[in-house]
Amino acid sequence: MTLPATNQRIDGKRLWDSLMAMAEIGATPKGGVRRLTLTEVDRQGRDRFRAWCEALGLAVRVDAVGNMFARREGRDPTRPPVLMGSHLDSQPSGGKFDGALGVIGGLEVMRTLGDLGIVTEAPIELVNWTDEEGSRFGHSLLGSGAWAGVYPHDKVFALRDGEGVSVAEALDAIGYRGPHPAAPFLADAYFELHIEQGPILEHEEKLIGVVTGAQAQVWFDAVITGRDSHAGTTPPYARRDALVAAARVIDLVDRLMRDRGEDGRGTVGQLQVIPNSRNVIPGEVRFSVEFRHPASAEVERLADEFPALAQAAIAGTGCTLDLTELFRFGLQPFDPGCVDLVRQAARRLGYPAREIVSGAGHDAVYVSRLIPTAMIFTPCKDGLSHNEEESIRPEEAAAGCQVLFEAVLARANRER
Ligand code: GLV
Ligand code: MN
Ligand code: MN
Repeated sequence: MTLPATNQRIDGKRLWDSLMAMAEIGATPKGGVRRLTLTEVDRQGRDRFRAWCEALGLAVRVDAVGNMFARREGRDPTRPPVLMGSHLDSQPSGGKFDGALGVIGGLEVMRTLGDLGIVTEAPIELVNWTDEEGSRFGHSLLGSGAWAGVYPHDKVFALRDGEGVSVAEALDAIGYRGPHPAAPFLADAYFELHIEQGPILEHEEKLIGVVTGAQAQVWFDAVITGRDSHAGTTPPYARRDALVAAARVIDLVDRLMRDRGEDGRGTVGQLQVIPNSRNVIPGEVRFSVEFRHPASAEVERLADEFPALAQAAIAGTGCTLDLTELFRFGLQPFDPGCVDLVRQAARRLGYPAREIVSGAGHDAVYVSRLIPTAMIFTPCKDGLSHNEEESIRPEEAAAGCQVLFEAVLARANRER
């Protein structure tokens, strides 16, 4: 399929202004965003997004896990919609663009279609997926995973955050447990615009990443149990220090990552020390573990070998380790036809581009299990993301949005 030539342009200033308006919601003093999923701040972001969509005449529906779909009708009501979107939730100390670029970029596509009076053949739906980040309830890609049938709904609703609030309670508290089933419906394709969140595009002076797939991952929850005791009176032989045992596992994660060279990724990002008092030897430590690699086989090997290696690492500490694997997925290739639309759009627009595999997880991973999917990356300053200093230039946002516009338009107008 070849992209038709067009002079139709998205409005880069309007896109930027809306990105900045969304970034006011949950803005942090350091210039980032804290818009944790299903919190009051997330509700404000969702409400603003809904109002913007409704002002365009789009019909917004919300499913049982809070995923939002804003629909623009096409000429042919028998055709399944082309989807685009990303997420509005953020990390606890996140940036303005991780997720928001894909949602607000999709909104700008909708606004441009409206301005130009374009009626596409297929309908187009803009999605805001619930809880992409996973930092509150422990599973990333939660909304898209529930939608795609990866996570059973009762399991999703029962997940609890650090304060004991369940997903179901959080959805109800902000009024976003919608009436529509969180289940896949027939859709023609899915496109997601996102910042790269790494340094490659910037380093190579490319404006567009043509994303061919996303790397493999496995996530665990770890609980180490020792014994609380007095810091001053407990001699070495009587200590069962859960934090010392955790430190050994954390070092193991780092070594397993480094053994895999440039492509290895291994992180402990969350740690809870109980009771967390300076003169109590910690009796319990809870922490997260994740590994990623572009080769599925490496993640499989890590997932299978890590539990026994971790048990061996804590030997002699007097503690026990309980590991739960939360999820695992292999390298997810995207659809060659959709990827090619992105490639062609970048080429036709004269944007320097390269192919790239995503290091981050994205809702596109689960969506692509069911429908043809592609992603568009744009650079970010110093490759920095999951950081309040995350920064992009307005021209980069506009270029990514223009590619999204062209790819979605071509797909929605393709001959059947
Ligand atoms: C999502 O942000 C992830 O890659 O963990
Ligand atoms: Mn993201
Ligand atoms: Mn993220």
